[in-house]
Amino acid sequence: MDIYSYIPDEEYPKYDGFLSFLGMYEDHRRITNYRRGLKRFRHLIKKKVAVEAGAGFGIFTEYMLKLGASRVYAVEENELMLKLLKKKFANEPRVKIVEGLIEDFEPDEEIDFLVHDFWGSLLYDENLISLERLKFKPKVVFPDRGELRYGVFKLEAFNDKIVTPEVLNLLEGVLVSDLIPTRELPLKNVAYRWKFGRGLKKAKDALLEDGEVLVFGIKILHGTDEICRSHYCYNWPYIWTKRVGKRFDLTFWEREPGYIEPKIKFFETESGS
Ligand SMILES: C[S@@+](CC[C@H](N)C(=O)[O-])C[C@H]1O[C@@H](n2cnc3c(N)ncnc32)[C@H](O)[C@@H]1O
Repeated sequence: MDIYSYIPDEEYPKYDGFLSFLGMYEDHRRITNYRRGLKRFRHLIKKKVAVEAGAGFGIFTEYMLKLGASRVYAVEENELMLKLLKKKFANEPRVKIVEGLIEDFEPDEEIDFLVHDFWGSLLYDENLISLERLKFKPKVVFPDRGELRYGVFKLEAFNDKIVTPEVLNLLEGVLVSDLIPTRELPLKNVAYRWKFGRGLKKAKDALLEDGEVLVFGIKILHGTDEICRSHYCYNWPYIWTKRVGKRFDLTFWEREPGYIEPKIKFFETESGS
């Protein structure tokens, strides 16, 4: 969603954040799979104290109440989301709305369960870093694991009329979402793993196969249970770029506190130089 009108710089993040998160509520598979996962772990929620980190519309706060949570802290930083949350839970004494960053939240009781959706399309390019900076220690974080996976594909296999070899050549070093591909792809290799408590770990890299398009996608897990994966849950589109070497190095850097951006570079030789 794009903003078409002029908005002063200081107001912009509020609207931009709000609008960019609205679209995710149209991904019904994300919602269904998250709810299914929460239901499976309802014994960890019933009569317990829970947190929804980055509560958004509070749909999982609502669901945890349904599963019997005794109290839910809905922590949110976006002031427009907060207005909606306050209205939604105005008559629900079991919900405490907390305004601000989850990193600054210091509950004065033990937290049994924390649910979040801080996954970026490249795994770490959204808010997972916030969970590494918590001032409290939830007994369970749901979902607790994620993988960034990749595969190389031939451009001709997509039969795309827009992304021709000439277009692809112009996108060297650029990570792109959407346009292609439009079907589910087997992403056999793992680039990174993230686990709550352990953080982000780079996996051993594999030599890239022939093919012009390098495609990335994520898998969200709790323990060994898959909660969502890119494309199937369309909130996380595949991210692709032109493959220009035998190996790649994808890194994440914190441009400013809390804002993570990915960078990719390729190596022509098999030894990675
Ligand atoms: C991807 S949405 C998820 C919303 C909701 N948990 C869900 O799954 O439907 C992320 C939400 O977290 C909020 N958020 C992002 N980073 C945050 C942080 N560090 N502290 C508190 N809220 C944050 C955003 O404003 C947004 O509403």
